[in-house]
Amino acid sequence: MNRLSSKTAIITGAGRGIGLAGAQAFVREGAKVVIAEINEDLGRQAEAALRAAGGEATFVRTDVSDSASVQALMARTEQLYGGLHILYNNASVFLNRQDGPVTELAEATWARVLAINLHSIFLCCKYGIPLMVKSGGGAVINTGSSASVMGIPGCDAYTATKGATVALTRSMAVEYGKQGIRVNCIYPAGIATEMVKASSLDDPSFDAAYFFRRAPLGRLGEPEEIANLAVFLASDESSYITGAILRADGGTTVTPIS
Ligand SMILES: NC(=O)c1ccc[n+]([C@@H]2O[C@H](COP(=O)([O-])OP(=O)(O)OC[C@H]3O[C@@H](n4cnc5c(N)ncnc54)[C@H](O)[C@@H]3O)[C@@H](O)[C@H]2O)c1
Repeated sequence: MNRLSSKTAIITGAGRGIGLAGAQAFVREGAKVVIAEINEDLGRQAEAALRAAGGEATFVRTDVSDSASVQALMARTEQLYGGLHILYNNASVFLNRQDGPVTELAEATWARVLAINLHSIFLCCKYGIPLMVKSGGGAVINTGSSASVMGIPGCDAYTATKGATVALTRSMAVEYGKQGIRVNCIYPAGIATEMVKASSLDDPSFDAAYFFRRAPLGRLGEPEEIANLAVFLASDESSYITGAILRADGGTTVTPIS
């Protein structure tokens, strides 16, 4: 409790899944949370649930791939809470059956996935980090994937964004450490959310038994298991950690392929 008191956090894509679990954990730890979500219904429901639980949270409808929208998010956050200490870049899309191998991938799909998953991190950091510096420093948490570190067939656009997210985490950690900004990355896999359901579990061509059940822990993870790590990275408990790329995947990506 109170590991994030007096901190203001923006969590992108916090309307459901891992982002929502992160928002719930952050408010439990005393943070003021801005839910930066594109889906109006999900955003409003998340805000209501967090407030009903006694938390301080505000939904600000945001398209993280759009510069004007991200700039408005930062301005609204400063107006609401006076600053920013934690920027959790969580929002992404996995466009099942549209994403694919490069030779079969529509240019528009490639551009859309890069805009939502990667350009968004550039925009949120470009306009969020100055506010964090002004607020005395803080923590950026980026979100990778098993696709950041291994080749997964059928999703080359998603994979490109998640690999770049890891590289950008390292370079931003080097760039902004002296200004009191720590930049780390969590890479999950096999977390029970709508994204995994749509991208894997509901897809008859996806070998879920191979991908998830062979993992050392032998099960899907829960969004709360990622939220616990995000709280740690957001809090002063991780004050000497920057540039870290942290696996949270039940061991999926260390399992040898046989
Ligand atoms: N679930 C997993 O197993 C898994 C595995 C690897 C990586 N990840 C990563 O974890 C993060 C969260 O995944 P999830 O499983 O909770 O996904 P999810 O699809 O359940 O939730 C994503 C949220 O982002 C929002 N969003 C989408 N586009 C947006 C935009 N342009 N602007 C603002 N919000 C937008 C959606 O509306 C949704 O609420 C993503 O970065 C994802 O790539 C998840």
